[in-house]
Amino acid sequence: MEKIKKDVEKIWKTSISAIETLENLEDIKKFHSTNLGKNSDLSAILRNISKLTISERKEIGQFANKVKENISNNLKQQEEKLRQTLYDKEDSETIDTTISGYKLNTGKTLSIGSIHPISAMIKLIEDTFAVYGFEIAEGPEIETDWFCFQALNIPIGHPARDMQDTFYIKEDELLPRTHTSSVQIRTMQNNAPPIRIIAPGKVYRNENSDSRHSFMFHQFEGLVIDDKSNLKDLSNILQGALKRIFDNENIRLRIRNSYFPFTEPSIEIDCSCIFCDMKGCKICSNKGWLELLGAGMVHPQVLRNVNIDPNKYQGFAFGTGIERLVMIKDRVDDTRLFYENDIRFLSQFRNI
Ligand code: PHE
Repeated sequence: MEKIKKDVEKIWKTSISAIETLENLEDIKKFHSTNLGKNSDLSAILRNISKLTISERKEIGQFANKVKENISNNLKQQEEKLRQTLYDKEDSETIDTTISGYKLNTGKTLSIGSIHPISAMIKLIEDTFAVYGFEIAEGPEIETDWFCFQALNIPIGHPARDMQDTFYIKEDELLPRTHTSSVQIRTMQNNAPPIRIIAPGKVYRNENSDSRHSFMFHQFEGLVIDDKSNLKDLSNILQGALKRIFDNENIRLRIRNSYFPFTEPSIEIDCSCIFCDMKGCKICSNKGWLELLGAGMVHPQVLRNVNIDPNKYQGFAFGTGIERLVMIKDRVDDTRLFYENDIRFLSQFRNI
C-alpha cells in the first residue's frame, strides 16, 4: 500500500515538472494521452490494486484521482500559457497592410488615390435610394433604336429625337444610348411589377464639349411601377433623397410643367439653391432654384409596349445627369474637369 502511494507520488512530481517544459500544443496533447490516458503508468497502477483491502483501495483510488485532477489542471494552465504566447507573437508579427509605401529612392510616402467624384456620387445615389427600397438595374451602353426611343414612345422621325441627337450608325440600328431611360424598358420587360429601380450609367450625345456639355456623361434613372405610386410619392422620395445626397436638411422642391414623350404628365423638378438658401446667387443665376430632374408618370403607351396593363399598373420615372449633381454639390464649374484626369483636381475629392 505504502509503495503504491509512493509510486503515485513519484508520477505526480515528475509529471508536474515535465509539464513546465512542454513547449507546444502538440506536446501537450501527447503528454495528456501518455500520462493521463488508459495506457498511462497511473492507470496501470490503479489496475493492480486488487490485492489491497477495500478501504485501502478506496484510499488509493481517491488519492490517485486527486493526483490525476491536479496533473490535468497543471496541463491546462500550461496550455493556456502557450496559447497566450502564441497570440502575443501573432500580434507582434502582424503586418499593417494599410501603411502606404515609399517612392523609390526619395523617402517620400506614395500618394493614396481617391475615388473619382462621379463614382463617389453614383455610390451615394445608390446607397440613398436603397433606403427607399430601390434596387440597382443596369443596361447596355450600346442600344437598339427600339429600347432607346421607340419603346419610349419616340417613333422614327419623332421631333423629340432632335433633343437627343447621338452617334447614329443608321436609324433603327444600334446606337450609343442617349439616356438611361432605355433601362426602364429593359427592366419592365424582364420583371413583373412591383418595380423599384435606380439605373446609373454612361450616356452619349452628339454635343460639342464646353463647360456644360460633353459627348459622354452619366445619368441615373429611377423607375417605380406598382398599383398606386404617384407624383406625390415621387416628390416625397426625392425630397428625402436629395437632403441626403446634398447633405442639406433645408431642401425644397419645385415642380414645373414639362414634356417627355414617355411620361404623361411630364414634369421638371427644381430644388432650392443649396448655396444661397433661395436668396439668389451666382450658382442659381439669382433665381433661387436649381434645375435638377426630368420626371413624370410613365406613359400608358410605354407600359403597353412592355406588356404591362396600364389599367392595373402605374408609376413614375425620373432621370438626371450625375455630373450636374456633383457640380452643384462640390461647386465644380466645368464638366470637362471630370474627364481630364488632372490629379490636382481629382485629389481635392479625398473621399477614402
Ligand atoms: N431621359 C430624360 C432625359 O435624358 C430624363 C427623364 C427620365 C425624363 C425619366 C422623365 C423621366 O432628358
